[in-house]
Amino acid sequence: MSDLSLFDPANYRSVQKPLREAHTLPALCYSDPNFFNREQERIFDRCWHFVGREDELSAVGQYLAYDSLQGSVIVIRTDSGELKAFRNACRHRGTRLLSGTGSVKRIVCPYHSWVYETDGRLSRASGMNEVTGFDLKDCSLAEVPIASWGGFVFIRYTPDGLSLANTLGDLPDVFRDYASEDFRCVRRREFVVRSNWKFLIENALEAYHTGTVHRASLGRQQSEVLDTQGHWLGLRVFVEGKNSVSVLSDKAGVFPVHPDLQGDQRTSTYFTNVMPCTQFVFAPDAIWWLSFKPLAVDQTQLILGSCFHRDVIARDDFTDVSQAYFERWDTATPEDNAICEAQQLGSISDPTHQGRFGPEEGLVHKLANWVLDRVL
Ligand code: FES
Ligand SMILES: [Fe+2]
Repeated sequence: MSDLSLFDPANYRSVQKPLREAHTLPALCYSDPNFFNREQERIFDRCWHFVGREDELSAVGQYLAYDSLQGSVIVIRTDSGELKAFRNACRHRGTRLLSGTGSVKRIVCPYHSWVYETDGRLSRASGMNEVTGFDLKDCSLAEVPIASWGGFVFIRYTPDGLSLANTLGDLPDVFRDYASEDFRCVRRREFVVRSNWKFLIENALEAYHTGTVHRASLGRQQSEVLDTQGHWLGLRVFVEGKNSVSVLSDKAGVFPVHPDLQGDQRTSTYFTNVMPCTQFVFAPDAIWWLSFKPLAVDQTQLILGSCFHRDVIARDDFTDVSQAYFERWDTATPEDNAICEAQQLGSISDPTHQGRFGPEEGLVHKLANWVLDRVL
């Protein structure tokens, strides 16, 4: 398609039809750099980006550097105990200040040693006293918006936009009983996947593939789409006769169901997608998150975080029993990544191809239309 027709709504009418009549996005939406650039401008430049858990930054001075195509941001626990986020660039000549994770008393620039307090104020700039009109007060780190819910922390690159509360809509109500603020993230794993970000998101929004891709690991799962308000999608996943899909299908002896859960929540696992690319998974016995960061049209970084309730972490058998959970994530995640890489290869073999959706792929269809609504 030419650039003009790439963004011509007339070419996407068949995606916008009701699920049972609809076609999938054309394959080139996953492989064309122009489509990808438009997604960056219209979606990623403006949305909330999930950066990590509050409990990963619990002590004063603890920080993480969040890197995306929109730039690098430092998220840090200030001396007064709040979380703040700053552009990861010195106010002198712009050097990157921090990388990865760690803890600092002050942020010291590696180039000329300007010193910033944890709240972003510049407190020392040696050798600058004779500079006309130079005032430390004018050189605080550039703040960006930060907000959190249930222990999940987000930042945004633009000063104005939809609030986090409006983005999440009724998600906090739906998952209130999990008390996710009482969970701790005990492990992160990172993967670089040679796949467009949307293939990865879609994969976790349908259980249709489980009987094939996870035949030997998780087995076939059933699912039901949730009615949601706000910019998120939800899928209830369950297996008849089992509480937990947080361990491989041949495993028994898992952690108990969270005592505050009621009804379906005791026997189901909820896969969510906070638009565009953050997934929180609420299970009866664990919570995990997947953060998908586009690196290029055909490359995505996946960070997977594993969280357990603090009472579960305090159990004597936590180290032993949690191995079954890690094994599940370490087995199923590469299976999903590999199938998304196969999809990416397919998308360049037949760029104009549009398939049909099955009845279990309602959320894949919703995601496609959410993206089109912004990109076109
Ligand atoms: S660039 Fe940071 S102190 Fe010079
Ligand atoms: Fe999967």
